[in-house]
Amino acid sequence: MSDLFVENIGELLTFAAADHRAPAEQRLGVVRDAVAWIERGVVRYAGARADFDATRVPKSAARIDARGRLVTPGLVDPHTHLVFAGSRAGEFDLRVRGATYAEIQRQGGGIHSTVKATNAASDDGLVELALERLGRSLSFGTTALEAKSGYALTIDGELRLLNVIAQIRKRVRQAISPTLLAHVLPKDASAGTARADYVKRFCDEAIARASTGKLADCVDVYCDEGAFTLAETRAILEAGKRHGLALRVHAEQFTHTGASRLAAELGARSVEHLEAITDDDRKALAAAGTICTLLPGAALTLRLPWPDAHRLLAAGCRVALGTDLNPGSSLSENLPLMMSLACMQMGMSAAQAWCGVTLEAAAALGRADLGRLAPDARGDLVVWNADDHREVPQHFGVSLAAHVAIGGELL
Ligand code: NIG
Ligand code: FE
Repeated sequence: MSDLFVENIGELLTFAAADHRAPAEQRLGVVRDAVAWIERGVVRYAGARADFDATRVPKSAARIDARGRLVTPGLVDPHTHLVFAGSRAGEFDLRVRGATYAEIQRQGGGIHSTVKATNAASDDGLVELALERLGRSLSFGTTALEAKSGYALTIDGELRLLNVIAQIRKRVRQAISPTLLAHVLPKDASAGTARADYVKRFCDEAIARASTGKLADCVDVYCDEGAFTLAETRAILEAGKRHGLALRVHAEQFTHTGASRLAAELGARSVEHLEAITDDDRKALAAAGTICTLLPGAALTLRLPWPDAHRLLAAGCRVALGTDLNPGSSLSENLPLMMSLACMQMGMSAAQAWCGVTLEAAAALGRADLGRLAPDARGDLVVWNADDHREVPQHFGVSLAAHVAIGGELL
């Protein structure tokens, strides 16, 4: 827990007024000629230089001169499949040359090939791979993220992956929110009573063990053709709710299943993907206040229709942006690139994209202390090689993050 004073900030985004119904431009909380003071890891002041008594800052505090540039909260990535082994580069090339994601999965590739490699890897090997990814994520300005299990499929294996996430959390400064994911059915339980037994064991054993061991904050289900049905999704989410876990759903990605309306009905914290969503779904999600986490990297990689952020926002939905970091459909740690795609292809303004990787993503993690620079927030911030917040989505594919601090500690 460190002290850090950032001075000479040209443009500061505070996101201090958190009412999500306000227009995005207002939510940014732009302050020009600003300073930020983080004491023992917590924001004490972030605002106009003229209103700050700089004698409060002890000589011993670390200092950064922002040289008149942009400073924002650290970015929050609300959807990652952080823990996996193996490469699917061959499959990527097959898809580029015309094979579909579903065809590859039916032939035993796709998620199942990552499951094989992940189950064959040691705990230490999985931790090392995840640490490499977290290093890249940090280099793009991401200071907190969600991380799912989902590439083991057996009950014990999914619990092992949650334990690997627990080990990773001890090794890094980024805040990591763990999620137990019901990803797809194992090959030997894809039909009949074996399938029903698996869903029952997922509810009775996996969820119970994740919850009592405090290994997961959330349960997530991938509801789609080739994955879990709507009825199975309901059973798993209801079990999660009984065990005190928050709910997420991979919904309406390839086919429309009704999973987003189910999520709204059950008060899920977030729904993910939403490429094939309808007007009625949007209404239900807006009324429920469920965060709609859009994943431009998956739509880009799989050449799916772009999720329509503009219509979600117009319907009153709360929209977050995530990388969906995974070895198949979105191999990227670059959250600013997701902002670029959201602005260029999905109808979001720069301000809306900024809200999507700060306030809304933090809400998807259930963390009011992240995604903002206001008194009592965690001292996570980025000094950018940019003068104006709109340059971050405009200048795509690179990292403009010059300095990243977590809990006031420069990394
Ligand atoms: O969020 N849609 C399902 N699951 C992942 C992809 C997983 C994979 O292909 O390995 C996703 O896109
Ligand atoms: Fe995903």
